Amino acid sequence: MTNQELERMVDTSDAWIRARTGIGERRIAAPDEATSDLALAAAENALQAAGLSPDAVDLIIVATATPDMPFPPTACLVQHRIGASAAVAFDLSAVCSGFLYGFSTAVGLILSGIYRTALVIGAEVFSRIVDWEDRSTCVLFGDGAGAVVLQATDRKRVFASYLGSDGAWSELLMVPAGGSRMPASKRTVDERLHYLKMGNGKEVFRRAVHLMTKAGLEVLSQANLKLEDIDFLIPHQANIRIIHSLAQKLSLSKDKVVANVHKYGNTSGASIPIALDEAVRSGKITRDDIILMAAFGSGLTWGAVLLRW
Ligand code: UT7
Repeated sequence: MTNQELERMVDTSDAWIRARTGIGERRIAAPDEATSDLALAAAENALQAAGLSPDAVDLIIVATATPDMPFPPTACLVQHRIGASAAVAFDLSAVCSGFLYGFSTAVGLILSGIYRTALVIGAEVFSRIVDWEDRSTCVLFGDGAGAVVLQATDRKRVFASYLGSDGAWSELLMVPAGGSRMPASKRTVDERLHYLKMGNGKEVFRRAVHLMTKAGLEVLSQANLKLEDIDFLIPHQANIRIIHSLAQKLSLSKDKVVANVHKYGNTSGASIPIALDEAVRSGKITRDDIILMAAFGSGLTWGAVLLRW
């Protein structure tokens, strides 16, 4: 969906969207596609890239804020469809930080020796929870999925992970209805309460830059590495201005920053694995590069992971 298509739906313009967000277009799932369909495709691609068959996988985590349904977990649907019958599968809810939360959880479980091969998937169909009558949010989001395979090795490649949460700011980004607080009713539907609400975009922007910077510096210090050691920054793709501000705070030049928000918009929990996948497949990221991933989202939640590819 292009900005021009949005111009015909709400009072907005391609110029405003590009100037304020850097977004030019976003992908929208087909009416019969749900999150597990996107997650399945990403999982299959990741397994193929890793040269592994589904029976090697013993852990599947799907980070999503838009599961197919409240339950069963979307991860179980993916597990069944890829035929990873030996795997434990569950969903993880940390919205735009979900992939890094899932990644860190999988790393911890692998390091503890409980599991050996994990599939971590970020998958979202935000187009189903975006209010297409609200110009302040509908221009920002898109649908997508990305996945990685993590496996135990003798040499440490994930150097550090840092996660943060602060529920005091839960009202900045939320979907008010559809849970146990406000179950679906005619009123909630009439009042459009099943859609994403953003309290204060500027506040979200400021906190995103501040907290991702903090998380990035924290993992560097944990790993005893310097900013100059980073080959690539893969930030959550919400807004190119947030990405550039973060890069500036970390003194990273633009060629070290992976950004694809212009093509996909904000795909929430899917944004980092999609950007990682594109950077690897295009040959930008090569073996042994040091990668800093940083995320921020509703919760509030945020985090960073530092690794050697
Ligand atoms: O993963 C986290 C998810 N959320 C985010 O990442 C959002 C973070 N925040 C942002 O990206 C930015 O704050 C926005 C892109 C949402 C907004 O950019 P801004 O530079 O902070 O603009 P603003 O909120 O100050 O709005 C400026 C004007 C307002 O009009 P007035 O009050 O100045 O007359 C808005 O009503 O832009 C208006 N506006 C729009 N105009 C055209 C808001 N949305 C639109 C729109 N098209 N789509």
